[in-house]
Parts: sequence; C-alpha cells; structure tokens
Amino acid sequence: MMKSEKESIETLMALRKKARAGGGLERMEKRRSQGKLSARERLELLLDENSFEEFDMFKTHRCRDFGMEKQEFFGDGVVTGYGTIEGRLVYVFSQDFTVLGGSLSETYAEKICKVMDMAVKNGAPIIGLNDSGGARIQEGIESLAGYTDIFFRNVMASGVIPQISGIFGPCAGGAVYSPALTDFTVMVDKGSYMFLTGPKVVKAVTHEDVTVDELGGAEVHTMKSGVAHCSEATEEEALQLIRRMLSFMPQNNLQSSPYVPTDDPDDRSVDVLDEIVPDSPNVAYDMKEVIFQTVDDGDFLEIQPNYAPNLIVGFGRYGGNSVGIVANQPTHLAGVLDNDSSIKGARFVRFCDAFNIPLVTLVDVPGFLPGTAQEHGGVIRNGAKMLYAYAEATVPKVTVITRKSYGGAYCVMSSKHLRGDINYAWPTAEIAVMGAKGAVEILHAREVKNYEGDPAELIQKREQEYSENFANPYVAAKRGYIDDIIRPHRTRIRIIKALTMLANKQDANPPKKHGNIPL
Ligand code: HXC
Repeated sequence: MMKSEKESIETLMALRKKARAGGGLERMEKRRSQGKLSARERLELLLDENSFEEFDMFKTHRCRDFGMEKQEFFGDGVVTGYGTIEGRLVYVFSQDFTVLGGSLSETYAEKICKVMDMAVKNGAPIIGLNDSGGARIQEGIESLAGYTDIFFRNVMASGVIPQISGIFGPCAGGAVYSPALTDFTVMVDKGSYMFLTGPKVVKAVTHEDVTVDELGGAEVHTMKSGVAHCSEATEEEALQLIRRMLSFMPQNNLQSSPYVPTDDPDDRSVDVLDEIVPDSPNVAYDMKEVIFQTVDDGDFLEIQPNYAPNLIVGFGRYGGNSVGIVANQPTHLAGVLDNDSSIKGARFVRFCDAFNIPLVTLVDVPGFLPGTAQEHGGVIRNGAKMLYAYAEATVPKVTVITRKSYGGAYCVMSSKHLRGDINYAWPTAEIAVMGAKGAVEILHAREVKNYEGDPAELIQKREQEYSENFANPYVAAKRGYIDDIIRPHRTRIRIIKALTMLANKQDANPPKKHGNIPL
C-alpha cells in the first residue's frame, strides 16, 4: 500500500534525524568528551541564526571494497550548503570526523566541489571547516581524484572570491592542500593540527620522535611555518574570527568591501603621535600604537600576528572603508625586512590587491637583514616578492614614512617608484641609501685612517653631517618622491583624505597571461 503524505513526511524527518546524527551517537559523544563541537554546531556558530540551507544531506559513497557497503552514512562525512554572515551570502562545508574520520571519498569531494562551483558562480566567499584524517583509504585513487578536483577549484577561485579555512581537528595528508590554497587559515590552539605525513611515518622515515602538536599544531603553523594565519583558544573564538575577517572583505573581486559607518570623526587629530618617535634612532616604539590610534574606533584585525612580527599586516578601516595595513614593527628586529616578513607581506598585499582593498603602508625600516642565514635562505628572491606584489598592485596605495626608510627597503615599501599614489613622511623620517654609520664608514674610511686627531670625534662629526644633509625627508620631498611632509597628529586625517581622493582610481597592468612572481 502507498504511504500517506503524513507517513512520507515522517519518513523524511526520520531520515533527516539519522543524517544529522553523523557517525552515530557513540562517536559524537566521544568527540564531545574531547571538547570538540560537531560539524553542524560549528556551522550554527559560524553562520547567522537559522540561515543555513543544506545540500546533499542524503548523499552516500559508492565504494564497495573493504566491506564499505555496510558502512554507509547519510551525507558521507561532510555537511555542505550556504548561509549568511552578517546578512551576506557565504558557501560552507564542514567536515564530520565521526563519519570514517572525516576522510574524503569521491562523493564527499563532489559535495564540496558543488558548493565551490556555486560560490564562484554567485560571487560569494567559501569557508571550509576542516576535521579530517585525509584521503579515505578504502577508496584509493578515487579519493585522490576527489582531492585534486577540490585543489583545482581552489586555484580557479583564487582572487575571484575570498576563501577561508578553519582547522578544527586533524587535517592530514591530502586534506592540507586545500587550506594551503585558500586565502586565510585559522586554527584552534589545542586539538587542531596539519601535516602531510603523521608521526608514525615521520618516525619510520627520519627516525624522529614527534607528537602531532610538535609536528603541526597551531603554534608551529602560526609561528614557524606560516602555513596558518591565526589561532584562537577555542573553536567558538576561531569561528568568530572567521566572521570578523569577512567583515573587512568584499564578496568577490568585482565588488568593494562593505562600508561600515562610524562615529569616529574623519578629522580626528591624534596628538600622541607627535611624541611617539623617540629622540634616539636606536630606540624602538610600537608601530601598532600608530595603527590603533589612527584607524576607525581603534579596530584593527592583525593577520599572522605571531609569524615574522617585524612586519605587521592586517585589516582596519579609515572613514568606514576597509584597508589592508602593512607596517614595519620597530619593536621586533628593529623592523627589518627578512625572508619570512617578505613572504608574509607579499601574500597579504596580493590578497588586498585581488579584492580591491586599498593598501596603507607605514614605514620604519632600517633595511634588509644582513647575514648568511638570510642570503642562503633566499632573501633576494623573497624580498623580490614584496617588490613584485607592490609593483603590480593597482589598488589605491597610501604610504606614510614615520622614521627610517633605508636602502632596498625604501624601494620595496610601497615607494613612489612602485606606483605609490600618495607618499607622505613625518618630519622625523630618514630616507637615504643607508644609515649614517654605514655611509660614513664607506665614504670617509681614508679620511678617518689619515686623521691625526681623535678618529671617534671625526666619525661623529661626519655622521652628524650625513644625517643632517641626507637622512631626512626633505631630499626625497625635493624630488617629489614624497608628496608632503606631514605632522604626525594629522596622520589619520591625511590618510582619509588621500583614500577619499583615490576612491575612483583606475589603473591596469599590461595584458598578459600571468606574471612570474619569484616564488
Ligand atoms: C578511512 C579513516 C581515515 C582515513 C581515520 N579513519 N582516518 N578511515 N580513511 N584516512 C577512521 C578510523 O578508521 C576510525 O574509524 C575513525 O576514522 C577515527 O579514527 P581514529 O584513528 O580512531 O581517531 P584518532 O585516534 O583521533 O586519530 C585521528 C588520526 C588517525 C590521527 C587522523 O585516524 C589517522 O592517522 N588517520 C590516517 C591519517 C592519514 O594517514 N591520512 C593520509 C591518507 S593518504 P572508526 O570506525 O573506528 O570510527 C592521503 C594522501 C592524499 O591523504 C594526497 C592527495 C594529494
């Protein structure tokens, strides 16, 4: 006998309940006892209330090897669909570790590819919440194919829609490359880890004894490898961070970031900045203070705060509009540029340029870090990445030199010569080919050698002359490399005016298939 409509609906509801149970209550409870949220709870916290619409809830795998026909779970280990964040459309997938360890099958990959394709077609961000043991071993090559289908889509979507990854448990083997191809990766301090090969394989191949955290925990990836950008203490905070990140971004590369009205006046004077630069050039000050004091409402979202802290990158707003801020940090290694900071800065600049986010660059840089470690580590190639990124960027570029801007680092940090639109300097700026000490050592070596009086006195005199004549903002201003020398307390005002003036900027690069950034 045919089922009544009521019975059909009841069947549907029963099946939905089964699908929502993922790998079953026992496995769910085990994860909960480990302090983990479920795949669906994560989506609830990530998305606006009641906004989630799910796809492919009843999809199952097609594997018939290894007795897999007896291990079918509705949804196959990944929850996919769309929803909103602060009212804006996003596409999502959330991996469910309770189903076969969140491992990726052919059908699981199809579900992810479906939402990725929709995200690109509809011009909305895609957010992936990862919690997976990697390729589903029972499916073999089909799982590899599925991964590669996802990677291909990550690459095609790059620079078209924002792509953000959260890591909430294991992200092992093939699972790592999709996050690596996305724009930003957020981890959880404890219980999330990323590695290509796990501790057992490491032990077998290199004889190293290493824990999952030592190999690929949040600390490793946010401080040492730079694979992840940020980490938070709890899953809830990590999900909030993803929401906050998106608030600074447009939906896609054809749109602008949302305007966020503020009561913070555009013409706010920041008087503390008139006294922030210490009298001695060897004494540091905190560049974050300059950022916090000048952006709207002191609201700055730092990206990669623990990796290469000698360069600060992150998002803020001026006059309600999003900007990407890149700034040397004098409190770390005197703010030098080195391998890691160059890589960090270049990638951030390229993200902002791809998504129409203007760049504000704050400069206090003594140069590139010298030494064999840097040279052997490829500082020429890596420094070139920063040059390349700033040079090709066509978004509005506003630069403020607060103090040192020496040598190659002057060229790199959004200089006029790399199409900086507005380049300002504080009166404390020292813009020159090198510092007074180095210049005097080279230019006056013979004079000092032949000097009959106290050589230290002569050196001091020559250094002072050099500083007065060359290490100041006026030489650059005379040539128009600096558009104006501004009083520090007017920095916010001048930045906002410059960005407003540049709001309709149009610029382009020569037609090409793509450039060849020195990777
Ligand atoms: C199928 C898997 C699986 C996988 C875990 N499971 N990983 N099933 N394929 N890759 C299953 C387990 O059998 C188990 O099933 C359940 O998930 C939970 O796993 P546990 O081991 O009990 O959990 P835990 O102790 O927390 O350890 C988590 C783990 C571990 C560290 C992730 O499971 C693990 O090492 N898995 C394999 C990781 C790996 O080597 N991946 C690489 C695959 S190759 P039951 O039924 O008991 O619940 C790859 C290459 C692709 O990814 C390259 C593409 C470019």
